Amino acid sequence: MSGNSICTLVKSRFVEMYGSEPIVVRAPGRINLIGEHTDYNDGFVMPAAIGFYTWIAAQKRSDRSIEAYSEQFKERVQLSLDDLSGGVTGHWSDFVRGVAAVLSRAGNTLTGANLVIAGDIPLGSGMSSSASLEVATALALTQLSNIVVPQLELAKLCQKAEHEYVGTKCGIMDQFTAASGVVGQALMLDCRSLEYQALSIPTHLSVVICNSMVRHQLASGEYNRRRLECESAVTALQREMTGVTALRDVSMEDLERYKHILPEQVFRRCRHVILENQRVLTATEALRSDNAEQFGELMFRSHASLRDDYEVSCRELDLLVDLASSAAGVYGARMMGGGFGGCTVNLVHSDHTGAFAAYIRHSYRDKTDITPDIFICDTHSAQDFKNSGASIGVD
Ligand code: GLA
Repeated sequence: MSGNSICTLVKSRFVEMYGSEPIVVRAPGRINLIGEHTDYNDGFVMPAAIGFYTWIAAQKRSDRSIEAYSEQFKERVQLSLDDLSGGVTGHWSDFVRGVAAVLSRAGNTLTGANLVIAGDIPLGSGMSSSASLEVATALALTQLSNIVVPQLELAKLCQKAEHEYVGTKCGIMDQFTAASGVVGQALMLDCRSLEYQALSIPTHLSVVICNSMVRHQLASGEYNRRRLECESAVTALQREMTGVTALRDVSMEDLERYKHILPEQVFRRCRHVILENQRVLTATEALRSDNAEQFGELMFRSHASLRDDYEVSCRELDLLVDLASSAAGVYGARMMGGGFGGCTVNLVHSDHTGAFAAYIRHSYRDKTDITPDIFICDTHSAQDFKNSGASIGVD
């Protein structure tokens, strides 16, 4: 379903359910070209918002309830603004409850609301459907309450909601991109300063997303464990070095020097983070100088490091990358997002995208009996302001 038809759908569903015209907000999903598991280490990432969104039709209520209906789950829940406790339950409404709770705790007086939610970001695919739901919810609730929260603040509050109400101790990349990203433009984001440089993707290059269609159960638990491993390394290194507050502050020379104080597995986790940060910086220069070969090589190296050192890949993602590596016109491929399933991101010469998609669809199905979803991202429309990230009052 196209973005416009989802917009129409949430509006008409709202009118059908509540009999009046709502406001409509949306927030995009994202891809990440390179820089995985670096954001919560104060490192560098290179995400781009994509033209898939979570849409919410919303209207004020006169009482202190939030009623939220999910078109995807065909389910309606009712929450009270006076009791948003309860932590992580695993239900989709945790996102809505979490966002309302963190906004309220930050001192915002929220009005009751009716929300109708729909979207086209494949759930659990590593394209950040969660952050987009959080940011869209935050936009809807603040807009209805006549509160203006700056984008960066909004992203940080949504990250907090994910930590406390969803249970994933994520970094800032996804919420930042959902709140501020522009479709068609990559961002080189410094997750410490939160400063970014906008990068355009040369027109002869296409970004192709291949969805493995698998999601392994361990994802959230393993994600939090990786974060703890990184933090344990920082604590150990702080005893030996000054000026270290995150792995961002540790060089490969430092890591080699203090290898003996770290468990072997933790050493490998750190090596991934340190080298991945370097890869993002090199990739930024490669993109600026239109060096697709170098960029692609960095993507393959990123994947190998995520597979071998960080151990967040899985058989299906490795297969997709492996297949891509022998396809014509492919510069690079790697797993994307938290890992343990979801999608790969592929950098392909624009002349080859159709053949590439057909080849992956056929070969992956052949080897796994699974038909992958394949998306060709719109990476060349950043000039069109209607494509900007989270927005209000979209028609
Ligand atoms: C998830 C998290 C992000 C980031 C990636 C891995 O998408 O939400 O903060 O850590 O995994 O790079």
